[in-house]
Amino acid sequence: MSLFNVYPLFDITPIKAKDVYVYDNKNIEYLDLYGGHAVISIGHSHPKYVKNISNQISKLGFYSNSIKNPLQEKLAKQLIAQSNSNGYSLFLCNSGAEANENGLKLASFHTGKKKVLSFKNSFHGRTSAAVAATDNQKIIAPINLQQDVEFIDLGDLIAVEKALQKKDICAVIIECIQGVGGLNESTIEFYQGLETLCKKYKTLLIADEVQSGFGRTGDFFAFQKHQISPDIISMAKGMGNGFPIGGILISDNIKSSKGLLGTTFGGNHLACIASLTVLEVIEQENLLNNAVEMSAYFLEKSKSLSQIKNVKGRGLMLGLEFDFPIAELRKNLIFEHHIFTGSAKNPNLLRILPPLTIKKKHINNFFNALNKELS
Ligand SMILES: Cc1ncc(COP(=O)(O)O)c(C=O)c1O
Repeated sequence: MSLFNVYPLFDITPIKAKDVYVYDNKNIEYLDLYGGHAVISIGHSHPKYVKNISNQISKLGFYSNSIKNPLQEKLAKQLIAQSNSNGYSLFLCNSGAEANENGLKLASFHTGKKKVLSFKNSFHGRTSAAVAATDNQKIIAPINLQQDVEFIDLGDLIAVEKALQKKDICAVIIECIQGVGGLNESTIEFYQGLETLCKKYKTLLIADEVQSGFGRTGDFFAFQKHQISPDIISMAKGMGNGFPIGGILISDNIKSSKGLLGTTFGGNHLACIASLTVLEVIEQENLLNNAVEMSAYFLEKSKSLSQIKNVKGRGLMLGLEFDFPIAELRKNLIFEHHIFTGSAKNPNLLRILPPLTIKKKHINNFFNALNKELS
């Protein structure tokens, strides 16, 4: 084995993909209700995406951030307009962890404080501050323990205020809908109360939209349902439809200065073209609407199966909860029915994170397979 062995693998080797389907080296077609972990937004190998990235690489694939890159400007303008984020500016990086890392660092620069408040069951990535703010002891190394992070129950505003009163917290970081943690979401009162408390105690609010952003919930960002305005919004995954790109939207009350943040690859020409194409296709194909409509259809279909105890999440960021562990079911869906789904920290939760282009016929296929497995 020449690879550092960290990933438990399914014995499947995809070699091509189209829209919601993935094909392996034996030419078996799989329905992708996992989206490579919520990454595929506009569908695999979308013709515009293939054409635009191919054109760009034939001209210029990369140059460093020491020159002007009009594609970054174009992406910032388009993203801010389409996501209704007036009053924010964009910093580009390469992944979700990096986006959160930069967000937390910026909050610390801005406030001069160093402690972080996070929530139980959260996942924010595997870099230094991001992993320290992640509620999973197994992936936190001794070196990460130098970060000072307090974890609070999602929804507990009293505990939030008690922590903020000490006035040493630079940022509260939150996934409005928890991804890996199992699709938990609190109430509008909680999110609005959190925003008010952050303002009161001069702490920055960071919305981690790495998984839920770019239309996955049917809103451009999941926090928008709660009508709040975080100071920093982190994103990645669906932003590039598989091309590695991440970023943070930063509220105008946070000032920039030369050299404050930086990266070699972040915002490169190819990444910008990938994300600009994602934005274009989301708009032209009305994918936010499709996410809402397909979600409603999915919920309706799920009522026909009494074994489903609960449906969690919003839009196309969904989880089906059973009263038994889903590992075997998930394996059978893959190997017997050729359907990819996801797991979560909660062993009874089957996660559904399809491309936003999914149609009713694909949902029907899934429920037919589920029916067969459960009967
Ligand atoms: C909510 C959330 N934040 C951050 C990350 C980390 O993103 P990446 O794996 O791109 O570093 C993830 C990844 O699953 C995520 O779901």
